[in-house]
Amino acid sequence: MSDKIDPFVPTERAITEHKEAHADLRAAGRLVQVEAPAGGPAWIVTEAELARQVLTDPRFVKDPAMAPTDWDRRTAGLERPVAEQTSLTTLDGAEHARLRRAHAPMFSARGIGRFYDRMLAAARELLADLAATTPAGDPVDLAADFTSRFPMTVVCEVLGIPGDRVDEAITACRNLFSLDPDTFSAAMAAFGALADAALEAGDGAAAELRDRLPADTSVEDLRYFIFLIIFAGQPTMEASLGFLVADLLHHGMPGTDRKELDAFVQSVLRRHPPAPFTLWRFAESEVELAGVTLPPRAPVLVDLFGINVDTDGRPGPDLVFGVGNHYCIGAQLAMVQMRALTQAFAEDHPGARLAVAYPDLRQADIGGTLGSRLTALPVLLRG
Ligand code: HEM
Repeated sequence: MSDKIDPFVPTERAITEHKEAHADLRAAGRLVQVEAPAGGPAWIVTEAELARQVLTDPRFVKDPAMAPTDWDRRTAGLERPVAEQTSLTTLDGAEHARLRRAHAPMFSARGIGRFYDRMLAAARELLADLAATTPAGDPVDLAADFTSRFPMTVVCEVLGIPGDRVDEAITACRNLFSLDPDTFSAAMAAFGALADAALEAGDGAAAELRDRLPADTSVEDLRYFIFLIIFAGQPTMEASLGFLVADLLHHGMPGTDRKELDAFVQSVLRRHPPAPFTLWRFAESEVELAGVTLPPRAPVLVDLFGINVDTDGRPGPDLVFGVGNHYCIGAQLAMVQMRALTQAFAEDHPGARLAVAYPDLRQADIGGTLGSRLTALPVLLRG
């Protein structure tokens, strides 16, 4: 066990600094035993080939029922076991494949591509409002509201949730991190109401999903599937959009050609992945991995960040959105909205600049397996 390396400790650091634990993990080997945030041993994969092997091996399962028996579900950040709630993130095998197939068309490149113009319009409108309401010469902190509002506006539009409920959805996402059970329950109830509103409106991906699922799917399950789409995307996008804008204003706008935009977005995500680790997987039975005998229920993570960023400064293999059956279903949604925001800046705010020096921007994380986000992003939109 490496008792010195704690990759789960909360940190605050400059935008230019990596969390040291990732380099330490890699130096410690391909499979490194650490102390899990919920207690007991956990194993972290630090090398691309081994990561692909684990992420495609059916002996590593997602069902939280297979977590170590002494783990507290909330401390470990786990969903309910499959027996209580089915979910894309916790199912495996044929059941998972069926649920993925029902989601797939709406979240494919073509399904999401249909929304590009509306995403671009939303980015333009939100930025224009900010420019109009901020006194000339004053910076606006885009991390205070914009980096939450834009992705939530987009996901509501895609799902068919009425636009006047964006604030409710942002609050529900924030409250889901609360340790107060009442606040948490109220947030889940709010998500249920948002899902119902989308299903009633009937003109977005939520209704399409309902129509593609078996007719006997319960309302609770359907609400949960819609909740997951809203919630899985929000913290990841909030963080990524902050880094995107910071890099865009620091390094200069890429061209508006689709390939250049995608390459730029990918390079931002590779350096600042909002999901530095995969979600937890558990050994179904005893498993031999990289010369180590893992006991049944052994918790395993893949260090996506460490694998993506080569210590020699060369880019590593790109595992930002994961690998295998659980590959991020929102990858297109993420890429397309980041491209739309870049285009909105390039065309409408070519003179925008950071109000502080780039290296003075700070990033922080709350620990555990979650990624970092900028603590503030002061921008002079009118240059
Ligand atoms: C830049 C933004 C994003 C990044 C880097 C990211 C990253 C990831 C990663 C690494 C996984 C795989 C986790 C694992 O295998 O354990 C994943 C899964 C997932 N992501 Fe994303 N994500 C992003 C945005 C989104 C968005 C916008 C959505 C909304 C649709 C979303 C929804 C999901 C869902 C539902 C899963 C579970 C898929 C499954 O288990 O079958 N993600 N994401």
